[in-house]
Amino acid sequence: MWSKDSWRKYNILQQPKYPDKDKLNEVEEKLKNLPPLVFAGEARNLKKELAKVCNSEAFLLQGGDCAESFLNFNANNIRDMFKVMLQMAIVLTFAGGRPIVKVGRVAGQFAKPRSSDFEEINGVSLPSYRGDIINGFTFDESARVPDPQRMIEAYYQSAFTMNLLRAFSRGGLADLHQINKWNLGFAKRAEIHEKYSELTDSITKTLGFMKACGMTSENTPAINQTSFYTSHEALLLPYEEAMTREDSLSNEWYDCSAHMLWIGERTRGIDDAHVHFLSGVKNPIGVKIGPSANSSDILKLSEKLNPENEAGRLNIIIRMGVQKIQENLPKLLRDIKKEGLNIVYSIDPMHGNTTKAGNYKTREFDKIISEVKSFFDITKSEGMYAGGIHLEMTGQDVTECMGGVFNVTEQSLKERYETQCDPRLNSDQALELAFLVAELLKKQIG
Ligand code: PEP
Ligand code: CO
Repeated sequence: MWSKDSWRKYNILQQPKYPDKDKLNEVEEKLKNLPPLVFAGEARNLKKELAKVCNSEAFLLQGGDCAESFLNFNANNIRDMFKVMLQMAIVLTFAGGRPIVKVGRVAGQFAKPRSSDFEEINGVSLPSYRGDIINGFTFDESARVPDPQRMIEAYYQSAFTMNLLRAFSRGGLADLHQINKWNLGFAKRAEIHEKYSELTDSITKTLGFMKACGMTSENTPAINQTSFYTSHEALLLPYEEAMTREDSLSNEWYDCSAHMLWIGERTRGIDDAHVHFLSGVKNPIGVKIGPSANSSDILKLSEKLNPENEAGRLNIIIRMGVQKIQENLPKLLRDIKKEGLNIVYSIDPMHGNTTKAGNYKTREFDKIISEVKSFFDITKSEGMYAGGIHLEMTGQDVTECMGGVFNVTEQSLKERYETQCDPRLNSDQALELAFLVAELLKKQIG
């Protein structure tokens, strides 16, 4: 039996311990009465688009911050991330000749699982930072105390973000006639710039041709509007429960904090609270799959999260790391393939490739690329479809991941290292990656 609060009877990992229970209850009550951030119908639309991915007719591009933050919240950051996603989507659409489903890690991506409950700096140990929705980033005892009020702030920030994303999607920024203006002006290396300009020139010519044939923005909305969906890790269950509502059209339950929710690598225990909670809502669901997973784990997850084998419901997000993917993924896919399950497979080449350089947590661009390549090679040789990519990225010119044509080095990491959690691709690296994935998509189809 499932109800939106039945997860409370299950074993649960990675939750904060709120010292003030009354305040927690008060916040939960307040959140329950605040408007949903998305509508059930929109989550159903995303499911339909993901069903196309499942049937090899579309490709999923999911990306955004590792963790959104209260401090870096401003309209320009959201706009720039949106623009890079559009640029990447254009590159991929052109290469793959099929629709790109765009899903941001945004408007709710606040709660973070941590490998350790404590963080130690210079002999001082404090509770780990768990994301702005839970506690403060500052390394200070009082900041690290979990405060339920932060859920309200995260809710409002998500609502403002959502509002802007809706405006950008429908209000003209996504108009293909503006394609040259999506450039962020960072493209440091002429080669990325040139490749992108070649592409936008062909698109502009095509638009002229279409107009001559009578297809304009007025009668073909796909020219000046787009669909952009939101997603986050459904980690903080008191928040997710409070945002879960019964849809008046279908009488089904939807977690209305985002269109798509995913379960992290650390909380995907089949008998645990997170899997139980998401089994009862109808949104599209992702599950991160790391190197320790075996095929029986995935089969059980699919049975529990997608008992009706609905296409577009379940996205398995592989994040094994550049070495382990080669050792583990072929057998995994071979075992699952026999079962005929409708699953969207995508690759997160970030989380299995995190290392340290000096004091910085970083990732090497070459390893990220290699894991993506292996994912495409392995799915192809197992006769399966590489359905998407899941990235930590930003529209800003940060220096957090090493490499790329504008070679960020160990020495230059400190120049603009701004993430509060994991290192993100900057906008040039993201676009460069899109061109590489475009080649892989072409091969996949060809
Ligand atoms: C994440 O996506 O930020 C994350 C923590 O991923 P994973 O659960 O795969 O480690
Ligand atoms: Co991360």
